[in-house]
Amino acid sequence: MKVQGVVRPPGDKSISHRVLMLAALARGTSELSGLLTGEDVKSTARVLRQLGADISPIRAAGPVSVHASRITHPASRLNCGNSGTTARLMLGILAGQRFAATLTGDASLRRRPMRRVTEPLRTMGAEITEKGGDALPLRIRGGRLRPLTYTTPVASAQIKSALLLAGLTGNVSVTIREPYRSRDHTERLLVHLGLGLHERDGAIVFEPRPPERRGSVPSFRLAVPGDASSAAFLVAAAVLAEAGELLIENVGVNPTRTGFLVVLERMGAHVERVNLRNEGGEPVADLVVRPARLRGTEVGAAEIPTLVDEVPILGVLASRAARGVETVFREVGELRVKESNRLELIAANLRAVGGEAEARGNDLFVCGTGTPPRGRVETARDHRLAMAFAVLGTVPGADVRLSERASVAISYPRFFADLRRMRAT
Ligand code: S3P
Repeated sequence: MKVQGVVRPPGDKSISHRVLMLAALARGTSELSGLLTGEDVKSTARVLRQLGADISPIRAAGPVSVHASRITHPASRLNCGNSGTTARLMLGILAGQRFAATLTGDASLRRRPMRRVTEPLRTMGAEITEKGGDALPLRIRGGRLRPLTYTTPVASAQIKSALLLAGLTGNVSVTIREPYRSRDHTERLLVHLGLGLHERDGAIVFEPRPPERRGSVPSFRLAVPGDASSAAFLVAAAVLAEAGELLIENVGVNPTRTGFLVVLERMGAHVERVNLRNEGGEPVADLVVRPARLRGTEVGAAEIPTLVDEVPILGVLASRAARGVETVFREVGELRVKESNRLELIAANLRAVGGEAEARGNDLFVCGTGTPPRGRVETARDHRLAMAFAVLGTVPGADVRLSERASVAISYPRFFADLRRMRAT
């Protein structure tokens, strides 16, 4: 396969959720461009509409306007669909509201752990009732919150962001330490909007505002950069190609998200960043990618938060390194509680197409193979597994059959069209 041309990944999923939520907390009308049109972001918009925000339809063309005055009691359950970010960040927002709401989600989301967020929110003073153990559905009644100083047990931007948003809506101080730095989009947005966030001695600190300015999130205009995690699939397809060059435009290159590019460099593929700029407090660049021969590498625990959603595609790339060469991903146990059990499924699916891979404890081992991948892959309706193995299916001689493809609509609705377009032959 040869690659060519120019592609643009969809809007960043993490930032899209956050700007919609902050715009819904603002007084007045905000205008957001470049939002992801995927299902997860639509779940956030649906939940915010149930809470009274007036959000224009989220379509590929054109900006979205959010008109908000005050979040109010919802008439029915808040369905977060497949989106862990919606569920966890909304718990933070609801912790500072004086009404009760029930959150639920699809079968995958109802299996994902929530105590990592509900325990610190309870310490702050939110009343939370479990209906199915450490998972959704959950009923939350917010109220007057207490300040919190907390060290997260895992490096998770969802936990950190939920607590910062609780600080914002409850107008109390929140100080957070994490074992490794997770993506910092919430912090950057709070700084960009002048909402009292800073770092002190390695901790992230949200400071409340004086009582007369409580709840005064300013309305704003913002352009969401392209999603580095979605771009990773395009980068990988270009690296695995036999010839050509691909230009990927408008990609967020926030260092807390680009561990994928750092690891790729160690594996022997150089991705050039050109046209570096800043959009709403986030660094953005265009990426130039060429095919490369890959080596194995070791990905350490401290790097994992910077590439946590890219382990499926890095696993696929590692399987195309030179024959017999091993790549190790350390401490990737968190992958068991993503949209699917990614840790087991990456390994099982690589084996299903003739590769060598194994999850041992919390580590993932993948061996390079010279033979074309052939076989059926179980995506478990997980968008990132579907895209990672679709990319594997582009190597010469491959015959990779996916159990389904529709899940890509969660984060990258045009994925298959873009993948087709960048292939020259
Ligand atoms: C996200 C954080 C990550 C990531 C998810 C999006 C976010 O989850 O896997 O896709 O937007 O904050 P964790 O924070 O739980 O690691």
